[in-house]
Order: sequence, then C-alpha cells, then structure tokens
Amino acid sequence: MIDPGMIPTPDPNPLPAPYWVLKLLLVVTFFLHILAMNFMLGGAALALAARWRRKTNAFGNRIFVDVAKKVPVLMAATITLGIAPLLFLQVIYGQYFYTSSILLAWPWFLVIVLLIAAYYGFYFVANRGEKRPRGTGTVMLSSVALVLLIGFIYTNNITLSQTPERWAAMYFSGASGWRLNLGEPTLAPRYLHFMTAAIAVGGLLLTMIAWANWKRDAEYAKAIFQFGGKAFMYATMAQFVVGMWFLVSLPRDLRMLFMGDNPAATGMMMFGIAGAAVSIFLMSGALRKESVKTAALGVTGLTALVILTMSEMRDILRDAYLKPYFHPHEFAVKTQWSPLLLFLGLFVAGIALWAAMMLRYGFGKKAGTAK
Ligand code: HEM
Repeated sequence: MIDPGMIPTPDPNPLPAPYWVLKLLLVVTFFLHILAMNFMLGGAALALAARWRRKTNAFGNRIFVDVAKKVPVLMAATITLGIAPLLFLQVIYGQYFYTSSILLAWPWFLVIVLLIAAYYGFYFVANRGEKRPRGTGTVMLSSVALVLLIGFIYTNNITLSQTPERWAAMYFSGASGWRLNLGEPTLAPRYLHFMTAAIAVGGLLLTMIAWANWKRDAEYAKAIFQFGGKAFMYATMAQFVVGMWFLVSLPRDLRMLFMGDNPAATGMMMFGIAGAAVSIFLMSGALRKESVKTAALGVTGLTALVILTMSEMRDILRDAYLKPYFHPHEFAVKTQWSPLLLFLGLFVAGIALWAAMMLRYGFGKKAGTAK
C-alpha cells in the first residue's frame, strides 16, 4: 500500500446521481459491452476457423461469408456499448483510470488507430467476401489480431488502474510513453479469460444463425450448429482451467473473497461455475438431439446470466483492490433528477430498439441468405 495522499483527489463536483445508481449502470453497461465484444470477436475468429477448415467442412466458406457480414454491426455495437461504461468509470474511478491511461500513454492512444484499422478490415471482408474472396482471409486475420491487441491494452489499463502501488515506479522508469503493465501477475490469465469467453460466445452466435436458417436451409443450419455448438463447449471447458489460473494468480486476500471470506462473492462464483458446467451439458444434449432452440435460447440465456454475474464479481474485485484508497461514502452527491430520468428512459428504449433491430437483422426475411 502507498500513502493514500499520493492518489489524485476525486473530482470536486458532486456525483449527478446516487453512487449505487452509477455503479449499477457501470456493471450493466460493461456487461452489454463485453457481450457485444464477445459476439464480434468470437464470431470473427470462428468465421476464420471455418474458412481454414473449408477442405473438410463443405460449408466452411459459406459460414465465413455469412458470419463476416454480421461482424461490422457487432463491432459498432461493441464501440457504442463501450462508451457507456467509459462514462460511468470516469465518474466513479476517474482518478485511477486517468492515471493508468496517462501512464500507458502511447499504447492507450493507439487503441483508436487499431480500432479504425480493424473496422475497415471487417467492412472490407463483409463487402467483398462473396464476390471476390481472394485475400479476405488474410484481412480478417489482421483485423482479428488488431482486436485481440485492443483487448490486451484494455486489460493492461484496467489492471494498472486498480494497483496504484505500481504507478510511481512505472512513471519514473522512463519518459518514452511506451509502456504496458506486463509485470502484473494476473494480466495473462485475466486477458485469456476474456478471450476464451469470446470464442464460446462466438459459438453461440453461430447457433443463433443456425436457428435463423433452420427452416430455410436445414443442411447448412445443421453444419453451422454443430460447428458453433462444439466451439462453445470446448471454449467453456477450457475456461475451467483459465478461470482457475486467474483465481490462483490473485493476491491471497483477494482470492479468499471468492472462497468464503465474502459470502456474496463466493455465492456468485459458485453460481458462475455451476452455470458454465450446466451450459456445457445443455449444449451437448442439444447437439445430440439437434435441438437448436435449446442452444440458441437456453444456453445463450444461461451464459448471459453467468457473464452478468462475473461482471459483478469483477467489480467486487476492483473495489477490493482499491479498498485502502477508495471511499465511496465520501463522494458528494447532488442528484440531477430530470437528466437522470431522461437518461434511464432513453437507455431502456435504446436497448429495446437495438434488440428489435438485431432480431430483424438476424431473423428477418433477408437474413442468412449468403450462399
Ligand atoms: C473493439 C475492441 C474492443 C475490445 C476487444 C474490448 C475489450 C475489452 C475488455 C477485454 C475489457 C475488460 C478489461 C479487463 O477488465 O481486464 C474491456 C473493458 C472496457 N472497455 Fe472495451 N473493448 C473494445 C473497445 C472498446 C471501446 C471502443 C470502448 C469505449 C468507447 C470500450 C470501453 C471499455 C470500458 C470503459 C471498459 C472498462 C469498464 C470497467 O472497468 O468497468 N471498449 N474492453
């Protein structure tokens, strides 16, 4: 622990809404952001895998084209849904997040450049995939690599923001601005935990595409269902190893929060592990019985619940890291009711509109018509 006086003081402006409201919105919007990111990144990675296996999987190319068409929309959703938690993060944890962002300097700035390049690549593949497929695999691979790098920079920044003890040494280590938080013991397992989840959720996207095509083109739907469903199962199985690694990499006192010290956190972790195990069994049964609805609706619903629970656990972990410095009861609060209510109304309406658009996009008359 460092002298708390070394931490920049919070913004003197009072919070515009009760602390718990901002906190709830941070967790919920982060969950939505990470869900969209998982669909986008996992979908793109599995599209690539399908293309690589096109010699053994007759539908490999078609899966690639079909999924690639959906990736730019999912990328847009990831970015839009990333802005919301960014706002709440700055309000609640501004002095930690700004400090770590400044320390990471160039890699942090680079996120925007990488994002634009990756986005262009995804659009290129989506528009050219069917007609002129040459080179689209390479472009897709490059975009996926850039997105993986963006995720890595995020994990560097978030882990650094919650360990102020590392700041001073890092600041005085040089002025080039080219730094990452590579000395952080939880960095690799934490990052892999997010990326493995992306593959699993990408598999769920494929089961949804299978569902949308079930009546239209059964043969294709079955092929994409098997491919996506198995990807979900294998990635979720791998998550047991990666998750365990993440847990043991945590400092002992923080790890113990999830192993009895904090009953709520422990309960959430047990729910998360049990939910993941049940989802594997559900998916395995659905694949055997060709029950696409169970996979696309049931497993996706359960997985979303597990991810929401884990988002809350992640938040508990951050507060435990920052416990010596972060005292939320000291925040001044001056609730601005009318903008808050307007925001909440628009937020709920926006999510509903977005869900309706997604359903129409995925299940409408023209959906999934790529050959
Ligand atoms: C498209 C590529 C992106 C990827 C792969 C990505 C991935 C991630 C990952 C893995 C985390 C969690 C890091 C951790 O806790 O260790 C994260 C957090 C976050 N992302 Fe993204 N992200 C992307 C784009 C964006 C964009 C464009 C924004 C904002 C406009 C954004 C806003 C956020 C915020 C605010 C958090 C932290 C929330 C919190 O700590 O509660 N992300 N992102």
